[in-house]
Amino acid sequence: MCRDDVSYQKVMKRMISVQLADTTDPEISATVWQLVKMCDEEFVPPLRSRDSTIAGHLSTSLTGSEEPVSYFDMLKSQHLLIARFSPSVVGFLSFRHDHVAAEWAGFPSNYITTICVHKDHRRKGVGAALYRTILERLPDALTSHYTTTRTWDGNEGHIQLLRSMGFQLVRHVVNDRGGGIGSSYWVKGAVA
Ligand SMILES: CC(C)(COP(=O)(O)OP(=O)(O)OC[C@H]1O[C@@H](n2cnc3c(N)ncnc32)[C@H](O)[C@@H]1OP(=O)(O)O)[C@@H](O)C(=O)NCCC(=O)NCCS
Repeated sequence: MCRDDVSYQKVMKRMISVQLADTTDPEISATVWQLVKMCDEEFVPPLRSRDSTIAGHLSTSLTGSEEPVSYFDMLKSQHLLIARFSPSVVGFLSFRHDHVAAEWAGFPSNYITTICVHKDHRRKGVGAALYRTILERLPDALTSHYTTTRTWDGNEGHIQLLRSMGFQLVRHVVNDRGGGIGSSYWVKGAVA
């Protein structure tokens, strides 16, 4: 990579800002809805087929809806980080604070349910900025010793991103999404 490319990337990264957002704000809600629809079919299974953001057996939670309405409604009850790229909202990350589940050995964590970056703004550092914020910049009331998430086999971009952020693979469930596709479970955290 030449020096001009490095400088350009630095400028681009400085144009990204991340903040906690109010899911009831109509403007935020409308933008996040557009992003949810954009990313819908990239998820395995698609978001429209899910009636839970935490369901253990993803392949059995089919809703038959044509748009990810139920999934979007569930996001509204979660915490939301939005990423702006001077000044448009180009990505979001939703999470549950103090989420406790058997998959995480009963430890409370900030469980990331969704991350989605606008297709025109990928590989510019937006996803990494969202992860850095949940890991390092949350207000005290929302911090947790552990940050957790899961993804599907073959989501190499997301897995690469998780590894680069220091997440560790702690569990793999074979074929729980059907069609031979399994889930991997990831944790980053420190014992207090
Ligand atoms: C996964 C996703 C959030 C990444 O967002 P992004 O803004 O493009 O990620 P970044 O630009 O911050 O990437 C940071 C690093 O992650 C890795 N990475 C991200 N996307 C990648 C890809 N498609 N292939 C390989 N590595 C990738 C790279 O190491 C990258 O660093 P680099 O660009 O300097 O090489 C985005 O592709 C997305 O919204 N995908 C669809 C939804 C999804 O899969 N969400 C996760 C569901 S569990």
